[in-house]
Amino acid sequence: MILLLGFEDYREPGRRLADELGADYREVEVHRFPDGEHRITLPIGLPASLPEHVVVCRSLFEPNAKLIDLFLLSATARELGAGRLTLVAPYLCYMRQDKAFHPGEAVSQRIIGRLLAEHFDALITVDPHMHRTPDLADAVPVRHAINLSAAEPMAAYLKSRQTRPLLVGPDEESRQWVDSIARLTGLDFIVAEKRRSGDRNIEIDLPDTAIAGRDTVLIDDIVSTGCTLARTAERLLALGASRVCCIATHVLPGGGAEEELKRAGVSELLGTDAIPQARRPIELAGLLAGAVREIDSA
Ligand code: R5P
Repeated sequence: MILLLGFEDYREPGRRLADELGADYREVEVHRFPDGEHRITLPIGLPASLPEHVVVCRSLFEPNAKLIDLFLLSATARELGAGRLTLVAPYLCYMRQDKAFHPGEAVSQRIIGRLLAEHFDALITVDPHMHRTPDLADAVPVRHAINLSAAEPMAAYLKSRQTRPLLVGPDEESRQWVDSIARLTGLDFIVAEKRRSGDRNIEIDLPDTAIAGRDTVLIDDIVSTGCTLARTAERLLALGASRVCCIATHVLPGGGAEEELKRAGVSELLGTDAIPQARRPIELAGLLAGAVREIDSA
């Protein structure tokens, strides 16, 4: 029997994953002291010793305190008898800085990746932002590292909509998702060219395609400031697109994306539950459960 340990800030997706697995869901208690330190308590009522395989599920957006919680948790779980610890982190933090772009910069992908690997035996994540690191295990050297793509659940959602939109990738990196979703749905797609010269300074060129009157869906892995998708949406609408909707694996909180996209004329922004969303998200529990089962039986 797998035990799934979740956290309050990721309760609903954690519960969905446990239900999908037929696993027991228990929640870790996090007490925040006034000085900012955390005390972690594993759920009361646990048996004196934990099962052999314990799955910890928490999405690592706004990650700093969450990482400390995970390190405290993993050491305690092992003291209580857990033999194997699998971390399910649908959003994996600190993956963007994969080299020192300027002298003196810390390469967070490598540093945080090694720290996670010291505490967990396996890792499951979805569409981590690792455009120059081909293998997840190179960044997080655990025994089992599973890098999933949200392309299938996104394609299933698009199929359920009964419309035939044109899929649009805002930059070359997004081609992998747009291409997979197009193959799974039979929809047409185009990929734009992006030039970024600052966090909110982006220029987009669209290929020469007939856009007028078309329903369009923009696809990306991450929405942070929303500027990538907003500039692309503006170009599509200027060329006569009838509607622009955006779908991303990770809609990060705190970057002002929703407002930016509304101003640009986007009708709808949809994310997966890799990050909890205000609106009904595309759920990943089925995808994640398949990977947990693979690790459990390894
Ligand atoms: C870039 O390579 C990523 O795939 C996203 O396009 C980017 O992170 C989106 O960021 P923002 O919403 O700030 O433009």
